[in-house]
Amino acid sequence: MDFNRAKLIQMAIDNQKNSYAPYSKFNVSAAALMGSGKVYLGVNVENASYPAGICAERNAIFHAIQEGERKLVAVAIVGGPNYTITDYCAPCGVCRQVMREFCNPKEMVVLIAKSPEDYKEMTLEELLPESFGPNSLR
Ligand code: THU
Repeated sequence: MDFNRAKLIQMAIDNQKNSYAPYSKFNVSAAALMGSGKVYLGVNVENASYPAGICAERNAIFHAIQEGERKLVAVAIVGGPNYTITDYCAPCGVCRQVMREFCNPKEMVVLIAKSPEDYKEMTLEELLPESFGPNSLR
């Protein structure tokens, strides 16, 4: 599916304000483009009991799944300290595995962005080679 990279990144940037990260003070936002063409947003939500927190990417993807979506086309990710974006924010290993569940790793696009014009583009396969997915259980 063709899509506007700059627009997806801008949606993630605009959503960073909703990040709840009073402990790490590292604010992450993700915009997930799904098979229907709809975009779902997510932020990291931390907790006083630290392990109970969740990443922005998983929040975006889980929201999409609960709305009936099953195919992840692309995700744009931004993050940085105190609601800034100073560097590229790569997805953590757990989030890469969650992406793997709902995509074709050769096609799914991950945008790790500093701005709508400045981003790294990778497939999920590049970020998570030799992955374990739904077909591995068959
Ligand atoms: N975080 C994300 O939301 N996504 C990532 O891919 C990297 C890490 C969050 C988790 C935690 O709330 C904060 O960033 C610091 O690790």
